[in-house]
Amino acid sequence: MKKLISLQVNGDIYEIAVSPNRTLLEALRYDCHLTGSKQGCDIGDCGACTVLIDNVPIQACITLAMDCIDKKILTVEGIAAMDKPHPVQVAWNNQGASQCGYCTPGFVVVAKWLFDKNPNPTDDEIKSALSGNICRCTGYTEIMAAMREAIGLMRE
Ligand code: FES
Ligand code: FES
Repeated sequence: MKKLISLQVNGDIYEIAVSPNRTLLEALRYDCHLTGSKQGCDIGDCGACTVLIDNVPIQACITLAMDCIDKKILTVEGIAAMDKPHPVQVAWNNQGASQCGYCTPGFVVVAKWLFDKNPNPTDDEIKSALSGNICRCTGYTEIMAAMREAIGLMRE
Protein backbone atom coordinates (compact mmCIF):
# COMPACT_ATOMS: atom_id res chain seq x y z
CA MET A 1 0.00 0.00 0.00
CA LYS A 2 1.59 3.27 -1.11
CA LYS A 3 1.60 6.37 1.04
CA LEU A 4 1.98 9.98 -0.07
CA ILE A 5 5.07 11.59 1.46
CA SER A 6 7.07 14.78 1.01
CA LEU A 7 10.81 14.72 0.65
CA GLN A 8 12.97 17.82 0.82
CA VAL A 9 15.77 17.31 -1.67
CA ASN A 10 18.28 20.00 -2.59
CA GLY A 11 15.90 22.62 -1.20
CA ASP A 12 12.94 21.47 -3.31
CA ILE A 13 9.87 19.59 -2.08
CA TYR A 14 8.93 16.36 -3.86
CA GLU A 15 5.47 14.87 -3.21
CA ILE A 16 5.72 11.19 -4.03
CA ALA A 17 3.76 8.00 -3.36
CA VAL A 18 5.95 5.23 -1.99
CA SER A 19 5.52 1.76 -0.59
CA PRO A 20 6.93 1.10 2.92
CA ASN A 21 9.94 -0.76 1.49
CA ARG A 22 10.88 1.90 -1.09
CA THR A 23 14.47 2.88 -0.48
CA LEU A 24 15.56 6.49 -0.54
CA LEU A 25 17.75 5.68 -3.53
CA GLU A 26 14.80 4.26 -5.47
CA ALA A 27 12.66 7.25 -4.49
CA LEU A 28 15.35 9.71 -5.60
CA ARG A 29 16.07 8.00 -8.90
CA TYR A 30 12.68 6.71 -9.98
CA ASP A 31 10.15 8.99 -8.23
CA CYS A 32 12.04 12.30 -8.01
CA HIS A 33 13.96 11.61 -11.26
CA LEU A 34 17.25 12.66 -9.68
CA THR A 35 19.58 10.06 -11.15
CA GLY A 36 22.89 11.49 -9.93
CA SER A 37 23.00 9.10 -6.97
CA LYS A 38 24.07 5.77 -8.43
CA GLN A 39 22.74 2.29 -7.79
CA GLY A 40 25.85 0.17 -7.40
CA CYS A 41 25.90 -2.69 -4.92
CA ASP A 42 22.47 -1.87 -3.41
CA ILE A 43 23.60 -3.35 -0.08
CA GLY A 44 25.46 -0.45 1.54
CA ASP A 45 28.97 -1.47 0.54
CA CYS A 46 30.14 0.75 -2.34
CA GLY A 47 29.12 4.32 -1.50
CA ALA A 48 27.90 5.15 -5.02
CA CYS A 49 24.49 6.13 -3.63
CA THR A 50 25.79 8.38 -0.84
CA VAL A 51 23.73 11.48 -0.06
CA LEU A 52 23.73 13.85 2.89
CA ILE A 53 20.77 13.57 5.24
CA ASP A 54 20.72 16.44 7.71
CA ASN A 55 24.36 16.91 6.73
CA VAL A 56 25.47 13.36 7.48
CA PRO A 57 26.67 11.02 4.69
CA ILE A 58 24.23 8.13 4.37
CA GLN A 59 23.93 5.27 1.87
CA ALA A 60 20.57 5.89 0.25
CA CYS A 61 20.28 2.25 -0.90
CA ILE A 62 19.87 1.02 2.66
CA THR A 63 17.70 3.89 3.89
CA LEU A 64 13.93 3.84 3.63
CA ALA A 65 12.32 6.82 1.93
CA MET A 66 9.67 6.97 4.65
CA ASP A 67 12.39 7.49 7.26
CA CYS A 68 13.49 10.68 5.47
CA ILE A 69 10.31 12.69 5.97
CA ASP A 70 11.13 16.07 7.59
CA LYS A 71 14.84 15.65 6.83
CA LYS A 72 17.03 17.70 4.53
CA ILE A 73 18.49 15.59 1.75
CA LEU A 74 21.37 16.76 -0.41
CA THR A 75 22.27 14.82 -3.54
CA VAL A 76 25.08 15.44 -6.00
CA GLU A 77 22.66 17.52 -8.09
CA GLY A 78 22.43 20.00 -5.21
CA ILE A 79 26.16 20.42 -4.63
CA ALA A 80 26.58 23.22 -7.17
CA ALA A 81 24.98 24.92 -10.15
CA MET A 82 25.65 23.43 -13.58
CA ASP A 83 27.52 26.56 -14.68
CA LYS A 84 29.48 26.93 -11.43
CA PRO A 85 30.85 23.56 -10.34
CA HIS A 86 32.08 22.96 -6.81
CA PRO A 87 35.91 23.03 -6.46
CA VAL A 88 35.78 19.29 -5.83
CA GLN A 89 34.12 18.78 -9.21
CA VAL A 90 36.64 21.07 -10.93
CA ALA A 91 39.53 19.17 -9.35
CA TRP A 92 37.98 15.80 -10.25
CA ASN A 93 37.86 16.90 -13.86
CA ASN A 94 41.38 18.37 -13.84
CA GLN A 95 42.91 15.25 -12.33
CA GLY A 96 41.01 12.68 -14.38
CA ALA A 97 39.57 11.21 -11.19
CA SER A 98 36.54 9.81 -13.05
CA GLN A 99 36.89 6.97 -15.51
CA CYS A 100 33.56 5.16 -15.78
CA GLY A 101 32.25 7.82 -13.37
CA TYR A 102 29.86 5.53 -11.54
CA CYS A 103 31.47 6.12 -8.17
CA THR A 104 31.98 9.86 -8.64
CA PRO A 105 28.71 11.27 -7.25
CA GLY A 106 29.22 9.43 -3.96
CA PHE A 107 32.81 10.59 -3.68
CA VAL A 108 31.85 14.20 -4.47
CA VAL A 109 29.11 14.24 -1.85
CA VAL A 110 31.44 12.88 0.85
CA ALA A 111 34.23 15.25 -0.21
CA LYS A 112 31.92 18.25 0.10
CA TRP A 113 30.86 17.06 3.55
CA LEU A 114 34.49 16.65 4.63
CA PHE A 115 35.62 20.05 3.32
CA ASP A 116 32.66 21.82 4.93
CA LYS A 117 33.82 20.41 8.28
CA ASN A 118 37.55 20.58 7.67
CA PRO A 119 38.86 22.71 4.80
CA ASN A 120 42.44 21.48 5.20
CA PRO A 121 42.34 17.74 5.94
CA THR A 122 45.44 15.58 6.05
CA ASP A 123 45.81 12.64 3.68
CA ASP A 124 44.86 10.30 6.50
CA GLU A 125 41.73 12.34 7.23
CA ILE A 126 40.80 12.27 3.54
CA LYS A 127 41.31 8.51 3.36
CA SER A 128 39.26 8.00 6.49
CA ALA A 129 36.39 10.16 5.18
CA LEU A 130 36.38 8.37 1.81
CA SER A 131 36.78 4.89 3.27
CA GLY A 132 33.14 4.01 2.57
CA ASN A 133 33.46 4.78 -1.14
CA ILE A 134 34.81 2.24 -3.60
CA CYS A 135 36.25 3.00 -7.03
CA ARG A 136 36.97 0.06 -9.33
CA CYS A 137 38.70 2.10 -12.04
CA THR A 138 41.19 4.67 -10.82
CA GLY A 139 43.26 2.96 -8.15
CA TYR A 140 42.53 6.05 -6.01
CA THR A 141 45.71 7.91 -7.05
CA GLU A 142 43.80 10.45 -9.14
CA ILE A 143 41.10 10.71 -6.49
CA MET A 144 43.66 11.65 -3.84
CA ALA A 145 45.24 14.12 -6.28
CA ALA A 146 41.82 15.67 -6.90
CA MET A 147 41.17 15.99 -3.18
CA ARG A 148 44.49 17.76 -2.70
CA GLU A 149 43.84 20.07 -5.64
CA ALA A 150 40.38 20.88 -4.28
CA ILE A 151 41.95 22.05 -1.01
CA GLY A 152 44.01 24.56 -3.00
CA LEU A 153 41.10 25.66 -5.17
CA MET A 154 38.96 26.37 -2.13
CA ARG A 155 41.62 28.71 -0.76
CA GLU A 156 41.59 30.87 -3.92
S1 FES B 1 24.60 1.37 -4.00
FE1 FES B 1 24.44 2.04 -1.97
S2 FES B 1 26.30 1.53 -1.02
FE2 FES B 1 26.42 0.65 -3.04
S1 FES C 1 35.63 5.78 -11.96
FE1 FES C 1 34.75 3.81 -12.33
S2 FES C 1 34.24 3.07 -10.35
FE2 FES C 1 35.31 4.91 -10.00
